[in-house]
Amino acid sequence: MTAHNRRSSAAASSRTAGGILGACCLLIAGLQSAFAAELPQYAEYVHQGVASCASSVCHGSATERTGTNVLQNEFVTWTRLDGHSRAYQTLLTEASQRIARNLGLPNAHEAAICLDCHADNVPEERRGADFQISDGVGCEACHGGAENWLSSHAARGTRHQDNLDRGMYPTSNVEKRAELCLSCHLGTADKFATHRIMGAGHPRLAFELSTFSALQPPHWAFDADYDERKGIVDEFDTWTRGLLVAARKNIELLQGPLLHGNGMFPEIALFDCHSCHQPMSELNWEPTVLTRGLEPGAVRLNNANFALLLPLAEVLGGPLHDQLLHRIRGLNLSAARSRESVATASRQLALSVDELEAAIARGAGPSERQRILNGVLFRAARGDYRDYVAAEQAAMAMDVLLISIERWDDFKERMDAIYATVENDEAFRPQSFAAAVERLRRAL
Ligand code: HEC
Ligand code: HEC
Ligand code: HEC
Ligand code: HEC
Repeated sequence: MTAHNRRSSAAASSRTAGGILGACCLLIAGLQSAFAAELPQYAEYVHQGVASCASSVCHGSATERTGTNVLQNEFVTWTRLDGHSRAYQTLLTEASQRIARNLGLPNAHEAAICLDCHADNVPEERRGADFQISDGVGCEACHGGAENWLSSHAARGTRHQDNLDRGMYPTSNVEKRAELCLSCHLGTADKFATHRIMGAGHPRLAFELSTFSALQPPHWAFDADYDERKGIVDEFDTWTRGLLVAARKNIELLQGPLLHGNGMFPEIALFDCHSCHQPMSELNWEPTVLTRGLEPGAVRLNNANFALLLPLAEVLGGPLHDQLLHRIRGLNLSAARSRESVATASRQLALSVDELEAAIARGAGPSERQRILNGVLFRAARGDYRDYVAAEQAAMAMDVLLISIERWDDFKERMDAIYATVENDEAFRPQSFAAAVERLRRAL
């Protein structure tokens, strides 16, 4: 995790002030059609281009408007503060040129494998008159091609559901939002930052929905009017539901073509980078709770998307916790056996994830959230998250949980101290992380 991708005090407190409103279980009408939505890149609609959203009377206002449903300065936020507006420019940098050279590509900014995640790479026939690939990850890369809703979506009386019916992507639905973000921040079978791409110089990917939404930063306001139109999902539910989607998507990757590719190893980027990339002098090998049973020297799978399910299951799932732990371990052990056993073990794990989802859907009150936080802190202080990717997820989880029990303001310095220990994966010391967590635990 790098300095800029740590949730800043400013971002978190403005969210608290914005009233991380109480749990809201409003089921938006038309959930059915929301679930059917295809990712914007693949749905049938023409993308009109960022210019068609950016007029000053639409989303290009210099400042937030009051008295309207939406802020109207979304374009300015996106251009000035949101990395997605620079995603294409990144492909023109020296770093990207080097990656392209290493991969034997003529350049990065015309290579589909780069554009698929760094721009709104829809085929030519779905690019409208104002569409520009150089806009990077533009409005329609997330909100869907505006062909059928551009002219109607701001009209009086248009409801959110009308927009969805006309092809707007349901970013307001947490599961669909997570799926969208993860399509680029984790990857899919169709677009994936393979170890070949990483080896050529691409940074490691990590994601957590609540934290990354704060970091984007938001160009929306979860206020009363939003709640009425779309239903606010609070921080805690955004975190848990994002975790479930990430676990599922990771499991899909473990069953798909990336696992069955050629070569000695299945796709190496499905494994924990640091299980291979660490200095040999370190000699701190020891199985973690999740990898118990693995032999010294085994290459570990990336457990980032599974590790935090356990403290949730402990509080909300009762006996499910032990089954889940058993299956995560089973998956880790399977990677040392064969691809077939990875496929089998991940199918088993998927069943536990389904059960956990049902348990989480029953809801978690303040005391349960507090116990989940205690569970994360206890595990972290005990050393369960010795693997960097798990520590990184655990730090983000603590942050979200402190916000969700309204204690974030009291502990932000201690939270900063924890983040400092996961700032740089190459300098990560599990002992320092555990010690920083123990200090927060005592203070709580
Ligand atoms: C079409 C692909 C794509 C989608 C969809 C996408 N992202 Fe991104 N995101 C990127 C790329 C590429 C970058 C890196 C931009 C750059 O610096 O060049 C990025 C950067 C970010 C960053 C900045 C990270 C950092 O280290 O500073 C955040 C935060 C982020 N995305 C959050 C999200 C969230 C939240 C969603 C879902 C609502 C999302 N992204 C959806 C491709 C995508
Ligand atoms: C699966 C989606 C995906 C693919 C494929 C992909 N990237 Fe990225 N890339 C991302 C995301 C997401 C980030 C931001 C990571 C973060 O900060 O968390 C990123 C970050 C980067 C960065 C670092 C940007 C910065 O601001 O530090 C470079 C450089 C880069 N990508 C170049 C490339 C090139 C060149 C290709 C093609 C060979 C490529 N990427 C393919 C998703 C992808
Ligand atoms: C990386 C993904 C992403 C990109 C790029 C993006 N958005 Fe959004 N947008 C979201 C998410 C997530 C939300 C919050 C969930 C929701 O209400 O749909 C949102 C919400 C909105 C809202 C609704 C706010 C409300 O109160 O209902 C508007 C308007 C909006 N975006 C406009 C834009 C415009 C204009 C652009 C381009 C300049 C843009 N967005 C680019 C992800 C994105
Ligand atoms: C199975 C072990 C293994 C795993 C897991 C692994 N790598 Fe590698 N990686 C290697 C090997 C082997 C090389 C080639 C080293 C060499 O040529 O000296 C390499 C090379 C690299 C390089 C180029 C280093 C250089 O010397 O230029 C980068 C960057 C890299 N890996 C990043 C990653 C990232 C990011 C991950 C996790 C997503 C990852 N690796 C996971 C084994 C692994």
